[in-house]
Amino acid sequence: MQGPERLTADAAGIARAAELLRAGELVAFPTETVYGLGADARNGQAVARIFEAKSRPRFNPLIVHVASAEAAASLVDLPEAGQRLASAFWPGPLTLVAPRRDDARIAELVSAGLPTLAVRVPAHQVARTLLHTFGGPVAAPSANPSGRISPTTADHVLDGLGDRIASVLDGGPCSVGLESTIIGLEAGEGRAATLLRPGGLPVEAIEAALGARLGPPPNAQAKVQGISAPGQLASHYAPSAPIRLGATRPLAEELWLGFGHSPGADLNLSPSGDLREAAANLFDHLRRLDHMGGGRRRIAVAPIPQTGLGLAINDRLARAAAPRDQPG
Ligand code: TXA
Ligand code: MG
Repeated sequence: MQGPERLTADAAGIARAAELLRAGELVAFPTETVYGLGADARNGQAVARIFEAKSRPRFNPLIVHVASAEAAASLVDLPEAGQRLASAFWPGPLTLVAPRRDDARIAELVSAGLPTLAVRVPAHQVARTLLHTFGGPVAAPSANPSGRISPTTADHVLDGLGDRIASVLDGGPCSVGLESTIIGLEAGEGRAATLLRPGGLPVEAIEAALGARLGPPPNAQAKVQGISAPGQLASHYAPSAPIRLGATRPLAEELWLGFGHSPGADLNLSPSGDLREAAANLFDHLRRLDHMGGGRRRIAVAPIPQTGLGLAINDRLARAAAPRDQPG
């Protein structure tokens, strides 16, 4: 494969980066915290490529980057505390997790099946210009291979992901150098804002703006220290229907989720057996089958190859199939 394009962060380079995003390609770009690995957040297959490039063994939810607080408010319902934080710290190194709006046209894979969405308005001038030029939401985790530390220069990005991305927009070193602080805003009146991940924006500044202490995370495990909390998140991913894996055909009364050649499947993750397409469809199809079967009819899932994105797909399916009273 050809090496990635290293784009200068001028008008021409940013226009090219926006064009690549529109084409469903991955673009690494600078923010004031760390470099992000961006994809069009409305394009499930583009988002699937992020997990592929990072070799993430599981799907954890991604942060959606937008150009303005107004754009963020079109994606999530920000409670009063969230609006206060947004006006105090956006643009800046703050990510807010809030209930996703029904009319937010964001690929299911971005939030890995969760009812919430993480949103952020970065302050870096190059990121801002890119978001304006692209004109849509950009899903981006830190631009490092899974398990490695976050990149703060374009060279770091190329060291880790050089053979797996279309381009990197070189905006020089990141000024903050630490990931954004993530605050959870639960639905419901009077719920405290909670610290989900400490980061580039000090907790003291956040508490001062709120005029209140941050609550503890929903449970100790929910602290997302740079990685997700799979155990805590697992319950959200599970459909209410029971799941049977490795099903080459459905049994009586079962709904069948196919993959590849699966004649008679109720839904198919990818008729052509494409793992990227399957990843993009996973959460949506589970949700739809669960709905079709009234949450009771068992869902039989065709075997998924344990290669590439298949690892993360099978990880998620295994969690969905696990007995509900067991963690993770
Ligand atoms: O500074 C940053 O935050 C950088 C830049 C690129 O924006 N991004 C970043 O992304 O650090 P990432 O994927 O490495 O970390 C995002 C964290 C993960 O721990 C993920 O679990 C959490 O955000 N997260 C995303 N959506 C969530 C949600 N709906 N609920 C709870 N946690 C969420
Ligand atoms: Mg990261």
